[in-house]
Amino acid sequence: MKPEIIVALDYSDIKPVKDIVTKIGNSVSWYKVGLELFVSCGQEALEFLKSENKNIFLDLKFHDIPNTVAGALHSSLKYGVDMVNVHAQGGVEMMKTAADSMREECTKRNVKAPLMIAVTLLTSLDEKYLQKYNIGFNTTADYVLHLAKTVQEAGLDGVVSSAKETGIIKSALGTDFITVTPGIRPLDSSVDDQKRVVTPADAKRLGTDYIVVGRPITKAEDPYLAACRISEEMGK
Ligand code: C5P
Repeated sequence: MKPEIIVALDYSDIKPVKDIVTKIGNSVSWYKVGLELFVSCGQEALEFLKSENKNIFLDLKFHDIPNTVAGALHSSLKYGVDMVNVHAQGGVEMMKTAADSMREECTKRNVKAPLMIAVTLLTSLDEKYLQKYNIGFNTTADYVLHLAKTVQEAGLDGVVSSAKETGIIKSALGTDFITVTPGIRPLDSSVDDQKRVVTPADAKRLGTDYIVVGRPITKAEDPYLAACRISEEMGK
């Protein structure tokens, strides 16, 4: 199976959101709404995406006490979101309470529970950070794997992971444990500010389930064609 493309809507206004989703048309069905868009015009953007029958990854990386995260997840249901995330560093208890109570709430409301995933270690943090703050792991890969295990233990569906870590996560935790991978760049595309990028074809080879793609599609001259090319690059 090839990974599903999720287009990152990194905007602070509704107009470019409407324009880009319209231009991309039926070549993509998943969109990511992150902090910038959510804080500026979240409700309008989410309602627009649903009116266009798109799937939504609400990327707000909740990190708070269990009861507060559970409440925030319940509130996200009013937008009909299809994927949500929390911070694994919030701890197993937080993740488990939030996931269990979200599933109960979805049963009560008779709606399908969104996929619940977690961010492990932000890619802006590296080995120097682990050493400086005595985190107790020598490599980011070891720490990411440790956090991913806590995510699975808490009963969530998967993690956001760099392509570099997808392999170790899948082999330790099973292929059903979902990985969502940003930092994707087609061969002919600018890397922008990303440091470690992989091509769509490599992301597929590494076995990730979803790829998050922003600028290679949103800044392309023809976003529809750019999305089609990425899909073609991943083959069947
Ligand atoms: O434009 P570009 O493809 O670089 O956008 C990637 C998207 O994935 C952005 O929304 C960015 O915040 C997000 N992301 C990332 N790296 C991570 C986690 C999220 O690029 N480690």
